[in-house]
Amino acid sequence: MTAGFYASRLTRAGAVMAPMAGYSDAPMRQLASEHGALWTVSEMISARGLMGGGDTEKLNLGRPYPGEQGRVVQLFGAEPEVLAAAVARAEAWFAPAAIDLNMGCPVPKIRGKGGACLLQTPEVAFTLIRAMREATGLDVSAKIRLGWDSDRSLEVAQGLAEAGAALITVHGRTSAQRYTGEADWDAIARVAASVPVPVVGSGDVTTAAQANARKKTGVAAVMIGRGAVGNPWIFRTLATGEDAWPDARTRARTALRHAELQTAFYDDESGRLTLRPLRKVLPAYLPEFPELRDALVQVVTAGDVRRVLAPLLDDADRAAPTGPETASPPAPGYAVHHS
Ligand SMILES: Cc1cc2nc3c(=O)[nH]c(=O)nc-3n(C[C@H](O)[C@H](O)[C@H](O)COP(=O)(O)O)c2cc1C
Repeated sequence: MTAGFYASRLTRAGAVMAPMAGYSDAPMRQLASEHGALWTVSEMISARGLMGGGDTEKLNLGRPYPGEQGRVVQLFGAEPEVLAAAVARAEAWFAPAAIDLNMGCPVPKIRGKGGACLLQTPEVAFTLIRAMREATGLDVSAKIRLGWDSDRSLEVAQGLAEAGAALITVHGRTSAQRYTGEADWDAIARVAASVPVPVVGSGDVTTAAQANARKKTGVAAVMIGRGAVGNPWIFRTLATGEDAWPDARTRARTALRHAELQTAFYDDESGRLTLRPLRKVLPAYLPEFPELRDALVQVVTAGDVRRVLAPLLDDADRAAPTGPETASPPAPGYAVHHS
């Protein structure tokens, strides 16, 4: 029997890119993957929504970029039969490497239908995992918070493992905490020590040094979300051990490439729909240039990004659209060709 996706990826060094609604779309995943992320996770996709039809938005949430591998698709929902059907559909449409169940989203409109609500009724989540497993040969995993308003993570994680989850990611906060306070890595470590499957830890890791320290808590891997916005190099540092924060020119080129990947993926040449979500991301590439911020949060097209960043780019970047072949080429050895 061949090892599952997670087991085979966990033989490598590196960190995992977190699912983040509004951020972890195909262009951000592509940059993370090229920079050595162990795997990436799509933002959550409603199982009901997926079964309701294939509108562009749902397709875009799950749609891979050309050649994408090592991308987990995350589903949320609360009904076993809907999740089982959504797993099959996601597998057929999106070619995921594994499927993850969202058990952490605290947003009110999603509460009651799944997400962190499942932490109050973990037995429902166990049924979901069983149904999802029956629907696919891929690894099925779950991403939890510590609990709804108190820490139930041991009980929840043990039940998930018994139900067949191949891996559990723990964000070290309760749902009631949302994103306040600090992630409790002692609680994450207790889960890692008490379940027979790999545990990935999530919460407040923004530097490679922090990631290395957190790894020592006994987790199989560390997941990075907000700390990877505008910083795919954090994955390279953790994959190779080399400090990889590049100079401003390289970061400007990568910001421009992010804009170009965005335009290409969403196939919207006006950029009107597509670069808006990137406005919050672009300044993070160049934190030491606050004077660029006002212009970066108003960009509409990749051409605008090129104009704003022109002082940092060299002549070749300023003149020609950069493409995957010419801009920020992935270092050999850990790029998109791994399965
Ligand atoms: C804007 C935003 C969107 C998020 N969306 C998701 C999501 O769709 N699914 C999920 O499991 N977690 C989601 N999360 C939680 C992250 O995956 C992660 O667990 C959390 O942000 C803590 O990690 P960090 O401090 O490295 O960001 C989201 C977090 C943020 C900030």
